[in-house]
Amino acid sequence: MTLKKNILALRQKKAIVEKGGGDKAIEKQVAMGKLTARERILALLDEASFHEYDLFVEHEEQNFGMASKELPGDGVITGTGSIKGAPICIYAQDFTVMGGSLGLKHARKITKIMDHALKMKVPCIGINDSGGARIQEGIGALAGYGEIFYRNTMASGVIPQISVILGPCAGGAVYSPALTDFVFVVENISKMFITGPNVIETVLGEKISQEDLGGARVHAEITGNAHFYALSELECLDQIKELVSLIPHSNLQKAARIEPKKPNFKKDIENIIPSDPKQPYDVREVIFALADESKFLEVQELWAPNIVIGFGRMDGETVGFVANQPMYLAGVLDCDASDKAARFIRFCDAFNIPIITLEDMPGYLPGVDQEHAGVIRHGAKMLYAYSEATVPKITVILRKAYGGGYIAMNSRHLGADFMFAWPGAEIAVMGPEGAANIIFRKEIMEAEDEDAMRQQKVQEYIEKFANPYVAASKGYIDAVIEPGETRGLLLHSLEVSKNKDDYRPYKKHGVPPF
Ligand code: HXC
Repeated sequence: MTLKKNILALRQKKAIVEKGGGDKAIEKQVAMGKLTARERILALLDEASFHEYDLFVEHEEQNFGMASKELPGDGVITGTGSIKGAPICIYAQDFTVMGGSLGLKHARKITKIMDHALKMKVPCIGINDSGGARIQEGIGALAGYGEIFYRNTMASGVIPQISVILGPCAGGAVYSPALTDFVFVVENISKMFITGPNVIETVLGEKISQEDLGGARVHAEITGNAHFYALSELECLDQIKELVSLIPHSNLQKAARIEPKKPNFKKDIENIIPSDPKQPYDVREVIFALADESKFLEVQELWAPNIVIGFGRMDGETVGFVANQPMYLAGVLDCDASDKAARFIRFCDAFNIPIITLEDMPGYLPGVDQEHAGVIRHGAKMLYAYSEATVPKITVILRKAYGGGYIAMNSRHLGADFMFAWPGAEIAVMGPEGAANIIFRKEIMEAEDEDAMRQQKVQEYIEKFANPYVAASKGYIDAVIEPGETRGLLLHSLEVSKNKDDYRPYKKHGVPPF
């Protein structure tokens, strides 16, 4: 009888805490078009898989009227569960409890679940919806953030870390997501800024909306802080499920293999690239023609679209694709594209995901803006990331491979395991027009018909250098192949690379240009 009573008492106690900040605060949350923290967890995880911990943790702050304040769960829900059968650790900040603000106990709940994730070698997912450091707690809140950042860094490259921004994410709250591998945002709901609009107005006298300062679109398109952009919370949760199913649980494992399926993309791979080498096309069509089921989960789709990165499967196993996108800026490498690709390459390398590089680009973007923005420093990240990576690395040169771009896009010289080129590939130090204008400058200037002479010299250059055969004659390209042979060769190369063993000299860590 006593046990029954105790069970009832427990249920009552749980029900009270599970209500979070209470009906009024929940109404406000719903009115903003947001799910509650608990609803988010339940919608993301497999049915009945969520197990909550530390429900009864309470804050210990005595100052600023806090002594009498009850903060259910101290404003954050933590626990374990699974997504499509994969075990995960999770936390979700509850904005209905004092704006999801982070005090020391709130932070310690988060660091405890992060420690679990690292020890158990499972992904850690953080749902952020918070006004930042709990102002009343002062140093306790700052300490809490520091302890989270430390763990984000320790877990980096060991377990996948995913941040979901589902509300404001202000002050210290933005730096944990920035340290994690993937950040998800939702239109009109996500906001990320280190200093809120009210502070900006007070200090700088500038009026700006939360949306313009750090809304979802800002981070998906301009800053590159966000990796996935959704129109609703439910779409966002589906994106997370897809990502989790594609990546391994930790750096000690490989991503789960699924039943392989052939591509079902309707266009013939030979008809994707236009016959005029100056015409753009969508390189994602080449990926659709190569990947299992023509499925491709693109990462950072809206930022630096001149390079495409993302995950697909080949023969049921996850691979990372890195591809120049001729539809934007002719697919050049610039500061942002280099940052974007370099980080993705490092993620793939850390988590045992082979990298397939599809190359069609005229080189690094020239100009004062890029030079001043640090294209040397950012561009070097690509060279570093590819050189450092020991996972299987395969490149297919689809069309142009000029200059520094040829080297940067996983060339043989940076350690590519397999290098293939389509027969229309142009591999040269620069584009034929630029090259002819420089090396035949005198002949062109002295000719009676300058244009005709220029055309003739451009043609000569194309025939001599802008083809795949010079590189193939030196063994820099392993095979010049027909487009239709590409998937078969990629599958074979991946199969041959299954036991790849590649060593790097001992070091504590490198010093990449980041
Ligand atoms: C304590 C907070 C809080 C905070 C919000 N609340 N943020 N309480 N500390 N940081 C409380 C509010 O007082 C309010 O309580 C409730 O949460 C809901 O907040 P609202 O302001 O009513 O909500 P909304 O209008 O939606 O605005 C959300 C917001 C705004 C944009 C996040 O609250 C805001 O600007 N907060 C401060 C953000 C900020 O500058 N944080 C930086 C902290 S310093 P009641 O009781 O009224 O419901 C920091 C430095 C760390 O983080 C650095 C580490 C490297």
